[in-house]
Amino acid sequence: LAIFSGRAHPALAEAIAARLGRTLGRVDVFEFSNENIFVQFQENIRQRDVFLVQPFVSPVNTSIMELLIMIDAARRASAGRITAVIPYYAYGRSDKKDQPRVPITARLIANMLETAGADRVLTLNLHAGQIQGFFNIPVDELNALYPVSAYFRTKNLENYTVVATDVGGEKRARDLAVRLDLPLAIIDKRRIGNAEVAEAMHVIGEVDGRNCLILDDEISTAGTIVSAVHALRQHGAREIIVSCYHPVFAGPAVERLRALEVKEIVVTDSVPLGPEKILPNMTIIPVA
Ligand code: R5P
Repeated sequence: LAIFSGRAHPALAEAIAARLGRTLGRVDVFEFSNENIFVQFQENIRQRDVFLVQPFVSPVNTSIMELLIMIDAARRASAGRITAVIPYYAYGRSDKKDQPRVPITARLIANMLETAGADRVLTLNLHAGQIQGFFNIPVDELNALYPVSAYFRTKNLENYTVVATDVGGEKRARDLAVRLDLPLAIIDKRRIGNAEVAEAMHVIGEVDGRNCLILDDEISTAGTIVSAVHALRQHGAREIIVSCYHPVFAGPAVERLRALEVKEIVVTDSVPLGPEKILPNMTIIPVA
């Protein structure tokens, strides 16, 4: 077995290797002045079981291309089996043709990974579990529910309700509610066109006078979370904890989260967070 990291999240790759009592394999990955990416494995991987760790994080398209090139290099170096370890699968929201003349990019990327030569994909909390079906190779989707619920079990969550930020996230939030033995509420969220604007409309379930633990799969611009918090406050919620599996934190997210009056923001380390993105009330749960 050999574990290699792309440039997207070396800290997570190191943590995964350490968890397995190993060190990362040596690979050179860099970009020429013309932005062409170069990859060269610095050790023999002939017939080895190769794991390439690369979440699709900013710059997202570079992360994807880099992984494809790493897979190609591993295939041409006669690796025995190549597993693409993708702790965050970007483009997950592009999983259906829900408007005329639009792509299904999550499927396109699946095709590209297979064409490059991946034998298997290991990922964490896809935006929609059905994305597994875009692949003809085995996909293992791990669930951050386990470390995240283990963390919350150490907390006193009396009078709390778990809240899904939209109907699509109901199962995800219900799984957490079941593990924590808490009730569930759901926000009826509407997105306005393709704009990164989310408007929370109604709250289904009882939150008046209760504390709320919001769970989303990812926080991108934080628009969804901000409107969820406002809606819950309008419906009489008291203390609020915000949590997500993938802290993408794009654009205005950090400023929005900083301005949000919530008790705690709980995320995982599936996505790297620079110091400027870590807030005082933030807890980062390791997934390795
Ligand atoms: C949407 O369906 C997802 O579950 C998240 O709610 C969404 O990706 C969050 O995006 P943003 O933070 O930009 O509102």
